[in-house]
Amino acid sequence: MSRLVVISNRVVYPDENGNTAPGGLAVAVEATMQDRDGLWFGWSGQVSEDPPQPTTIECEKMQYVLTDVRPQDFQEYYNGFANRVLWPILHYRVDLAEFNEADFGGYQRVNEFFAERLSPLLEADDILWVHDYHLIPLAQALRARGHNNRIGFFLHIPMPPPDLLTTLPHHAELIGALTEYNLIGFQTDNDASNFARYLTRVLGAATPDGRHYNLGQQRFRVGVFPVGVDTDGFRRLAETATQAPVAAEFTESLSGRALIVGVDRLDYSKGIVNRVDGYERFLEKYPEWHGRVTYLQIAPGSRQDIPEYAQIDAAVSARVGHINGRFGEVSWVPLRYVSRNHRREDIAMVMRMARIGLVTPLRDGMNLVAKEFVAAQDPDDPGVLILSQFAGAAAELGAALMVNPHDRDAMADAINAALLMPLEERRARHQEMYTVLEANHIRYWGQSFVDALTRPGRALNWLSSRLAAH
Ligand code: G6P
Repeated sequence: MSRLVVISNRVVYPDENGNTAPGGLAVAVEATMQDRDGLWFGWSGQVSEDPPQPTTIECEKMQYVLTDVRPQDFQEYYNGFANRVLWPILHYRVDLAEFNEADFGGYQRVNEFFAERLSPLLEADDILWVHDYHLIPLAQALRARGHNNRIGFFLHIPMPPPDLLTTLPHHAELIGALTEYNLIGFQTDNDASNFARYLTRVLGAATPDGRHYNLGQQRFRVGVFPVGVDTDGFRRLAETATQAPVAAEFTESLSGRALIVGVDRLDYSKGIVNRVDGYERFLEKYPEWHGRVTYLQIAPGSRQDIPEYAQIDAAVSARVGHINGRFGEVSWVPLRYVSRNHRREDIAMVMRMARIGLVTPLRDGMNLVAKEFVAAQDPDDPGVLILSQFAGAAAELGAALMVNPHDRDAMADAINAALLMPLEERRARHQEMYTVLEANHIRYWGQSFVDALTRPGRALNWLSSRLAAH
């Protein structure tokens, strides 16, 4: 079997005991790597003026190859073009994009640098899978070095409609570079169809069926591969975690109040300010719940060198203080806000103990927290998922209570409805969502992408075909 080479900006590699930190991408990639030789290449997490040769970590059949990046390149590539231009535009926040040519140059230099360092490690029959918006031009840089391997690209974040994408300076050059891949994968039909419209209307690509494309000499395909979670694994983690002593301590701290939980990386795309405003509206509109609910928001900081991230931190903290000041009582704190990182088992525990999971991003590629919340529940007495219609996960989790995160009243009403929801309805909704998550278990995701990349007859909208077969 050919080797699978995965390339992403962040690499999650094993610690000295051979354990990897179980993040979404790591679990997904690991599931794909099973039973085959693999190499995972990416950034080491370090910067250095004169990057030494990449570090290699061997673990069973896997090799992790990690490279430092020069400080200025990193600044321009990661803090600049990737996270201050691509991230906001692809999340429909054109207003936040801060473009400059130097950052675009740094982004391209890092892609060339990755290609330069990866190139000598590649074998002719390797299958390459590139992840996310940091590395759009990587296939082009590898093709220029003579690599004719099959190369796939997966975008973990949204693909906006052409009117928004064309606000990106050099969009035709950058997005056009995606056509060097053999297969381009998206989270949802909506993302794939936005991209299809860009390809045909802006770049002038031809397609007989909306899946296979021709543009100049390039032939490539576009598919939909929604990322899943390790449904039963996360359920077991949550079950076990609720038996731990910390769970008893946590339960005691709630004093019988219904728990509402939000878990997000601190990012403006997650809609935390709007969500907190929705909670404030709920407290205004439904005073009968005062003293009977606790909202716990966990939001570890992220990308802190970028001004918009410092601003969101300040905005959330101010809102939390305002709500607790306005509604709190000596023996009741309506909103607990914690911004430190928490262990995965602790997250699973609070999710299982929650009556409501609030997952209300303004825009999100998928949102695995929504899926993990469903997986964590006790099927006999499940909590209710309140989900933004703008999360990719909404395409699969139609049995959640769906909200528009820009509508404070709708969020307030959804919280009230979730608190009042009868057990039978909670069970039915949970059961429906859990079944979908099982059909889209993480173990199928990578396999179906690699199958579609290597066997051209394979389905390009694999979850729809799987659900139809059920
Ligand atoms: C999103 C992106 C990932 C990224 C992650 C964390 O999920 O799709 O590519 O790794 O955020 O962001 P960070 O900037 O810390 O890598």
